[in-house]
Amino acid sequence: MSDNNATLTVGGATKDYAVMDGSVGPQVIDVRKLYANTGMFTYDPGFTSTASCESGLTYIDGDEGVLLHRGYPIGQLAEESSFMEVCYLLLNGELPSKTELDDFITTITRHTMVHEQLTTFYRGFRRDAHPMAIMCGVVGALSAFYHDSTDINDPLQRKIASHRLIAKMPTIAAMAYKYSVGQPFVYPRNDLSYTANFLRMTFSVPAEEYIPDPVIVDAMDKIFILHADHEQNASTSTVRLAGSSGANPFACIAAGIACLWGPAHGGANEAALNMLREIGTVDKIPEYIARAKNKDDPFRLMGFGHRVYKNYDPRATVMQKTAKDVLEKLGVNDPVFDVAKELEQIALNDPYFIEKKLYPNVDFYSGVILSAIGFPTEMFTVLFALARTVGWVAQWNEMISDPAQKIGRPRQLYTGPTQRDYVSVDKR
Ligand code: ACO
Repeated sequence: MSDNNATLTVGGATKDYAVMDGSVGPQVIDVRKLYANTGMFTYDPGFTSTASCESGLTYIDGDEGVLLHRGYPIGQLAEESSFMEVCYLLLNGELPSKTELDDFITTITRHTMVHEQLTTFYRGFRRDAHPMAIMCGVVGALSAFYHDSTDINDPLQRKIASHRLIAKMPTIAAMAYKYSVGQPFVYPRNDLSYTANFLRMTFSVPAEEYIPDPVIVDAMDKIFILHADHEQNASTSTVRLAGSSGANPFACIAAGIACLWGPAHGGANEAALNMLREIGTVDKIPEYIARAKNKDDPFRLMGFGHRVYKNYDPRATVMQKTAKDVLEKLGVNDPVFDVAKELEQIALNDPYFIEKKLYPNVDFYSGVILSAIGFPTEMFTVLFALARTVGWVAQWNEMISDPAQKIGRPRQLYTGPTQRDYVSVDKR
């Protein structure tokens, strides 16, 4: 709590509101008593000025382009750690010792298989279903399969559900892909790392074993790290809101997946790659920049701009380098990468983008990498969901353990008709 109070005068009455300090970052005004004191709500569509919770997981300074998980900069984590380490860090608050990490990896590895009955669930979908539609359904259905980890008041059950979700998501994602291409499901293999196992389950076929290349495994692991958590973004807030009613974790994560699907959120990397392919060649870029700036044209440069970052997204820096490494390793000469680099340069020097502080976000280059690895665009958001699952479950656990937690219930400014009497249909 800060020594300062914020003073608000409404209708001649003045009241103080406590100002709360975080460990770093903006202070917040505690307005919990505002309605009781004044009979008024705050109005904040999109929650641009509202802190919905306390959290010790992730810190973002959007103006400076800083992203920290439990205090560690994202660049260091992406370059020096592994996705399993980052998962442990987000869930437990500290980096693991060697033994703790080994134990954690063993636990996750032992949960990678899904109930065999779940495979029949897939067959209810059309083959051309979007894999995110399958993910929403299948992840929600997990609550019907794992009854022994749905009691949210039992910390052990919460832990098991968290491990199950992190472990099974690659299997579920790979199965969604296999189903869409008409290939048999590939079971997990416990001798492979989390990320290598996922790549094998996705790309191996009975007729030919897929041997994951270390450069590709490393790039994929980095992509997972870069997407692991991002404080109170739309899908995480959705998970928290769903969980605030006491819903089980599988249902909450399914809600997060639904939110992530949208093109303004997790669907942006798919949209960014589609846009880069549509632009096609460097000479077409000015035409698209002009469209992005035209207020009468709904077109936006996908992969550009961010609600929080008003500077270069620190994840985009790692992503650009990873894209270069992967394309070099695979010997892919994709003109889309040249279009991306040139578009970035032109936009970064254009007054419209400078004034509005629009910079490339994490999604700008990720599509280029994923496409080079062999993923179809429909799978991009699925991969994001896979990686973000740890953030969702860590945030959900933090919320359930928070004594200040209440059911989420925003209020509104009502602008509809005032009370009126019903008129029967023959008199209307
Ligand atoms: N291209 C062109 N103009 C843009 C773009 C863009 N990508 N993004 C924002 N603007 C303009 C808006 O038109 C607006 O202009 P105005 O002030 O003249 O009306 C101004 O910049 C502010 O934009 P808002 O939409 O108000 O900013 P907000 O913070 O609400 O939106 C968002 C952020 C949704 C990410 C937006 O920048 C966008 O749509 N970007 C493209 C989609 C995208 O890449 N999403 C990925 C986000 S990252 C993630 O989810 C992991």
